[in-house]
Amino acid sequence: MPVRTIEWVDGTIRIIDQTRLPERLVFLDIGDIETLSEAIRSLRVRGAPAIGIAGAMGAALAAVSYEGEDRQGLISAVREAVSYLRKTRPTAVNLFWALDRMEARLDALASQEAGRIREALRDEALTILEEDRKVCRDMGRNGAELLPDRATVLTHCNAGGLATSGYGTALGVIYAAKEAGKDIRVFADETRPLLQGSRLTAWELMASGVEVTVICDSAAGHILRRGGIDAVLVGADRIASNGDAANKIGTYSLAVVAERHGIPFYVVAPVSTIDFSTVSGDEIPIEERAGEEVVGGFGMRTGPEGVRVANPAFDVTPSRLITAIVTEKGVHEAPYGKSLGNLK
Ligand code: MRU
Repeated sequence: MPVRTIEWVDGTIRIIDQTRLPERLVFLDIGDIETLSEAIRSLRVRGAPAIGIAGAMGAALAAVSYEGEDRQGLISAVREAVSYLRKTRPTAVNLFWALDRMEARLDALASQEAGRIREALRDEALTILEEDRKVCRDMGRNGAELLPDRATVLTHCNAGGLATSGYGTALGVIYAAKEAGKDIRVFADETRPLLQGSRLTAWELMASGVEVTVICDSAAGHILRRGGIDAVLVGADRIASNGDAANKIGTYSLAVVAERHGIPFYVVAPVSTIDFSTVSGDEIPIEERAGEEVVGGFGMRTGPEGVRVANPAFDVTPSRLITAIVTEKGVHEAPYGKSLGNLK
């Protein structure tokens, strides 16, 4: 991607405001936890790895913006910010993974001077950002080997540079395949109700010179049945230890149709997306968002005022429908309990 999704700039968090894309590329400089929480909740910054980075930077922000040298006061301020950020979005485990890591670092620093704690938490957040850059490249390389030259793939939501530090998981595979000289075409589900596919995936693929065709979510079954799609590639927000994978609502139905037509279905995600404490996908919390996103999104009333709406933001694809899970450590196949268990 030509631009950076999230950066640490002079003690503030700079993000692309993804609610403004594709019409405008607007950057926001965030200097307090309240504004960061709002940005995560309202999907200004979104996508599992990017939310994790934002959370880590939030803990660092709480530390660097604490005034004074009172160590206990600083530690309490960081803990308070971390527990506030934990309540922003429930499904993407990368947020909790990153906040746990920041708290573990804080615990290890508890006897240090305030200045040292500030510095070390900022460094830890920047390390998480840097690691994501490398991990995305490695995942991309691992996954690219699964795609033949002249492949056409179908993807859902946005698992690209915008959902990470800047390269992506599922879209990272496409970028890496292109870098390896393969010609790849993409069908992008528009991804109702917030349109991450048509607003974000299409925007970043076009900016990167990848041929992309946007389709309605409801067209995916038809496109997969009629032939010509070589693989479905998606990201994940949380993968249980048995390989069940939570991702944007609509992913499960794609997996069912892909299996019906013998099309490989790949989940691409970093090891930090695997929640080894969950036995199966049934334990993954599914975010329920405001009904207004479905019947009143983007300033247009598309359902009667007062109608009852269900708006689950994610679903779980059972591992038996997943051909392989691609991580930075390799390509993992069933039985996932064993292949993912080796990554602990
Ligand atoms: O609600 P969102 O836009 O944060 O949902 C994002 C997704 O579902 C992505 O597919 C997932 O986070 C993987 S991103 C590399």
